[in-house]
Amino acid sequence: MSTADALVLEVDVLTAGYGGAPVIDSVSINARRGAITAIVGPNGAGKSTLLKAIAGLIRPTSGTVKVMGVDVTGQPAEKFVSKGLAYVPQVANVFPDLTVRENLDMGGYSRKGGVRERIEQLFKLFPDLAASSHRKASTLSGGQRTMLALARGLMVDPVVLILDEPSAGLAPKFQGLIWERIEQIRSTGVAVLVIEQNTRETLKHAQWAYVLVLGKNRLEGPGKELLDDEEVVNLYVGRLS
Ligand SMILES: Nc1ncnc2c1ncn2[C@@H]1O[C@H](COP(=O)(O)OP(=O)(O)OP(=O)(O)O)[C@@H](O)[C@H]1O
Ligand SMILES: [Mg+2]
Repeated sequence: MSTADALVLEVDVLTAGYGGAPVIDSVSINARRGAITAIVGPNGAGKSTLLKAIAGLIRPTSGTVKVMGVDVTGQPAEKFVSKGLAYVPQVANVFPDLTVRENLDMGGYSRKGGVRERIEQLFKLFPDLAASSHRKASTLSGGQRTMLALARGLMVDPVVLILDEPSAGLAPKFQGLIWERIEQIRSTGVAVLVIEQNTRETLKHAQWAYVLVLGKNRLEGPGKELLDDEEVVNLYVGRLS
C-alpha cells in the first residue's frame, strides 16, 4: 500500500467553536491507516473540540474533513457509519441497563449482517468482555466499561477510530491495558486518532503526534521525536525525576 493510500483522514485548516470566538483555529491534521495519531496539549487547548468537529458533533465554520478522500465536513454524527468513522467520547457512554452483548448488538445496528460474527471477533480482542457478556453494563468496572465503549465503536468496522481520553477517570493501572488494546486495534489496520492524559506515554505509542496550543497547531512529528524536543518536554511532558 502506498503512503497516499494510507492517508484515511485529512483535516484541513479547520475552524470551529461553540458560537462565540473560535476554539480551534485553522487546525490541520492527518491520520493514517494502521497508525496511532495523537493530539496532545494543555487542558483547554481545544483537543476535544477538534475531535467533536471532525466527528460532526459540532459544525466547523470553515475548513474541511475528508475520510478516504471524501469530503464529510459538518455531516451530522448519525452519518458516522457511512463516513467510516467511529467516535468514543471523553466520558464513555454505554447503555447501563443492557448487557455487554446487547450493547454490542446496538453498536452494530447499522451493519448489513455479520453482527454475531463481529461480536465473536471482538470478544477475542477483549476477553474480559467475553467473560462478562451477560452482565449488565452498570455492573462493570470503569475499565471494563471503557473496553465496552471501545468494542462498541469497532462494531461498525470503522476506518478511523477516534478516542477522547479512553482512560479518563480510571485508575492508572488501566492505562497500560488500554494502550495494549489500542495497539491491537491499530494492528488490524484501523487509523486510531487519540487524546490521552499521560503525554509521555501517549507520545511513546504515537507514530505521529500533533501538539495543539490555544486552539492552533504548534508542533508535530513522530511521538518519540517529540519526546526528545526541549519545548515539548518542558511545557507538556515534564522531566522524569
Ligand atoms: N460545550 C461547550 N460550550 C462552550 N465552550 C466550550 C464547550 N466545550 C468546551 N468549551 C471551551 O472550549 C475550550 C477548549 O475546550 P476543550 O474541551 O476542547 O479542551 P481540551 O483540550 O479537550 O481540554 P482537556 O485536556 O481539559 O480535556 C475551553 O475554553 C472550553 O471552555
Ligand atoms: Mg478534552
